[in-house]
Amino acid sequence: MANVTVIGAQWGDEGKGKLVDWLSNRADVVVRFQGGHNAGHTLVVGEQVYKLSLLPSGVVQGKLSVIGNGVVVDPWHLLEEIAKIGAQGIVITPDLLVVADNACLILPLHKDLDQAREAAATQKIGTTGRGIGPAYEDKVGRRAIRVADLADREALEAKIDRLLAHHGPLRRGLGLPEADAAELLAALEAVAPKVLPYARPAWLLLDREVKAGRRVLFEGAQGALLDVDHGTYPFVTSSNTVAGQAAAGSGLGPKSAGYVLGIVKAYTTRVGEGPFPTELNDAVGQRLGEVGREFGTVTGRARRCGWFDAVLVRQSVALNGISGIALTKLDVLDGFETLKICTGYRLGEATIDHLPAGLKAQGQLVPIYEEMEGWSGSTQGARSWRELPASAVKYVRRIEELIGAPVALLGTSPQREDMIVVRDPFQD
Ligand code: IMP
Repeated sequence: MANVTVIGAQWGDEGKGKLVDWLSNRADVVVRFQGGHNAGHTLVVGEQVYKLSLLPSGVVQGKLSVIGNGVVVDPWHLLEEIAKIGAQGIVITPDLLVVADNACLILPLHKDLDQAREAAATQKIGTTGRGIGPAYEDKVGRRAIRVADLADREALEAKIDRLLAHHGPLRRGLGLPEADAAELLAALEAVAPKVLPYARPAWLLLDREVKAGRRVLFEGAQGALLDVDHGTYPFVTSSNTVAGQAAAGSGLGPKSAGYVLGIVKAYTTRVGEGPFPTELNDAVGQRLGEVGREFGTVTGRARRCGWFDAVLVRQSVALNGISGIALTKLDVLDGFETLKICTGYRLGEATIDHLPAGLKAQGQLVPIYEEMEGWSGSTQGARSWRELPASAVKYVRRIEELIGAPVALLGTSPQREDMIVVRDPFQD
């Protein structure tokens, strides 16, 4: 396979950062195709820990990295992240980083709106507060300011007026002060010369790269259950997070996705509000959170934890066309006497094998569990099947069976090389 698409198969935070970092080594180009700086990808390389939110993880390996048109870009955050990673010794230049000139911007007024809405809502989404949803609303509403607009002052002025005509009533309704057009224009003019050197038609560059036989790694953010169509709506993010978006969000055609690697955590977590059938509000949940260090990279919020839900991952395998999975954080389950896997749900009198679309039904699901024997030995740092306790192998095999997809990679610690490689997704 020439290309690989990496997506989160649960609610995000499956450990994509490490996998993308490992795969970047084998790729020529790394592309982000949706979301924005709501993502949090942690890469541990030796003693160094890199925390990326907007930059494609390829930058750490010095690979050509592209922020595609499907991403919403906060230009101030972009520059901050470039400076932060620069201080860690990774110098970002326009030769290394390309930002699609048709990507839409996240502006301070998007962040204001995101936060004010969350504060006012009785049914909070639990967003990251970074303006992602409002920026996508403006994109779909055809009034967004795009990267290329930064190069044209006159057009920019008119676009700001149009945008503020929409935001004025919204801000007033939420008790926010009026947005100042001159202030926004000045801020964008100040940032433009720093951002524009990275701006290019990313689709054209990618088309050329692919035609030249280069290998592309598409780096998904969040997870399939946060997809705006397929997730636990409305408790989702505002982009399509499924693998199909890799094409639309980068400007390459649908055949470009290649091998679809679903990143799957050996248990389940979610940040923010919304249905979570296998959530554990007890000592077991707390233990998963503590051992797994389940705190958000972006917001620092404690993640909710629960048993592995095979129903959700099976659904994700179908929605994304997953070729194989990378199972992560198996070591967090070390030492549990017994483990549970959810294999179906009870909904009233009925038994169902998928996540229903309705929020009410999603909230009423009662998991049907299968119990498995745990293991007393350690899986941490294992790099071959032989190093795993027999019960751990059984657990992994049962997951494969239930979700209908094979394990390609098995992660056993945050370190880049602590992994069992069953097959390299780039080598078909
Ligand atoms: P937003 O993307 O900031 O609008 O937040 C919407 C929902 O997606 C919230 O539940 C967030 O916690 C969740 N979310 C957004 N980005 C991530 C991520 O990278 N990992 C996990 N959850 C996320």
